[in-house]
Amino acid sequence: MKLLIDSASIDDIRHVYKNYPVDGVTTNPSILLKAGKEPYECLDEITGYFNAAGIKDYELHVQVISTDVKGMIDEAERIVKRYGKETYIKIPAVVEGLYAINILSAQGYHTTATAIYNAHQAYLAGKAGATYVAPYVNRMTNLYGDGIEIVYQIFAIFANNNMSTKILGASFKTLDQITDLAELGIDAATVPPELIKKMLDDKDVNDAVAKFNDDFHKLCKDDKATM
Ligand code: G3P
Repeated sequence: MKLLIDSASIDDIRHVYKNYPVDGVTTNPSILLKAGKEPYECLDEITGYFNAAGIKDYELHVQVISTDVKGMIDEAERIVKRYGKETYIKIPAVVEGLYAINILSAQGYHTTATAIYNAHQAYLAGKAGATYVAPYVNRMTNLYGDGIEIVYQIFAIFANNNMSTKILGASFKTLDQITDLAELGIDAATVPPELIKKMLDDKDVNDAVAKFNDDFHKLCKDDKATM
């Protein structure tokens, strides 16, 4: 399972990339609003960081805002022209969105059908040729009780119908949601920076490490001693 950062904050992206094994960044209009910069300025900063750091094999997902098919396609062309053909174009899985995904995917664009709240949307997005579907796990849990179960259903639909569309889990609020889907083996998860950091910030683990250090320095009678 790839791990992507669900944020457009360059400070968060820099910190997480330096300290955690991650594979890219996903953005959407709400995430861009949180970052507080003009969209293309923000995305230029992110891709500029990757280029300056020599990071080449990252995934970048950028969402269109148009609600008509032509507008979605025009935006996709602009985004790919600016950030390269490997960029994933995020398009809401609605009627017009699946129409645009079908056209763009046939032209070789990477597409992410987003705002997936149920299995039937994901099924149709897969049939439309989406590269990824992005089920919103926590939002589905809030609405229907078990978002993880719906992702299991989507996983089975794609596997049992030999559909090549991949699953990018999104909308996470707990670590268990992430590891449940890692155990299932979905293709990727996009996680807020604060939740990624929480994966390696366990009090009991920190206490155990501190005790190792204390015991070693008691043995050596020197606080600066190392192996
Ligand atoms: O990519 C979609 C994701 O950002 C939604 O997350 O927490 O707003 O449900 P959330």
